[in-house]
Amino acid sequence: MSRVDAIMLRESTIITVATSKGGAGKTTSVCCLALYFASQGLKVGMLDCDPNGTLTRWHAKGGALSQLPIISEVDEKQVFNSIASLSTANDVVLVDCPGFNSRVMVYALGVANLVLIPVMTDEANVFEAIRTKMLVDWASTATKRPIEVRAFLSRIKGSNLVSHSRSELEKAGVQLLKASVADRIAFQEASYFGSSPLVDDPSSSAALDVIRLASEVAAILELDKHSRPDAPAIHVLAL
Ligand SMILES: Nc1ncnc2c1ncn2[C@@H]1O[C@H](COP(=O)(O)OP(=O)(O)OP(=O)(O)O)[C@@H](O)[C@H]1O
Ligand SMILES: [Mg+2]
Repeated sequence: MSRVDAIMLRESTIITVATSKGGAGKTTSVCCLALYFASQGLKVGMLDCDPNGTLTRWHAKGGALSQLPIISEVDEKQVFNSIASLSTANDVVLVDCPGFNSRVMVYALGVANLVLIPVMTDEANVFEAIRTKMLVDWASTATKRPIEVRAFLSRIKGSNLVSHSRSELEKAGVQLLKASVADRIAFQEASYFGSSPLVDDPSSSAALDVIRLASEVAAILELDKHSRPDAPAIHVLAL
């Protein structure tokens, strides 16, 4: 049995958030999705494999995120083991990748059930999202297993670049989520506290962005079927 198979057999759901473009919103998405899924009764673990350690720093701030387990692992030789150990103990594992191509990122793509690609609406973001999607296709071929991949528009501002970037991605065969995340100060505020708008202000527009994004992801992965109402979950809010 390959090591990838061994990890998959543990039946946790692995979501890798990746794009080779820096600053697109990977770490913010991991933080917000982790807290959303925890609020739904799922056991959530996180892997930070970015040498910049942003997620690890936010986790150390003592906010809601600090209640969830995290492993910080940038050594490519250890990434499989770290994901395997998080998979054993959790329903969902979220992997935060560095904002550049690396072997660590390729390994994290290869074990994912779903790769999520945040994309801002500029040319460089769209270009790198398409490259990242091609890398996922390659990883899927190499590991002989299907890997779902979806992009979503991140940090959008009201402009016609939203429909332009959407159509560029679709032309390149990148499937997009309907949900997108607007550019909102609440996401930056939450980063100082290791939190999420969903925790800080559940009725805010930013929280609604998170709920829409997470609900679409949950539906693709059928995560509701795995939720355990009796689990000692993090009750950040009652949705
Ligand atoms: N929806 C948003 N609205 C406003 N600011 C945002 C939003 N999403 C992320 N940001 C801010 O943009 C910056 C980059 O976000 P983040 O760190 O999540 O991106 P990243 O893809 O993980 O970056 P890197 O490639 O450097 O790891 C951060 O300062 C974050 O607070
Ligand atoms: Mg990051």
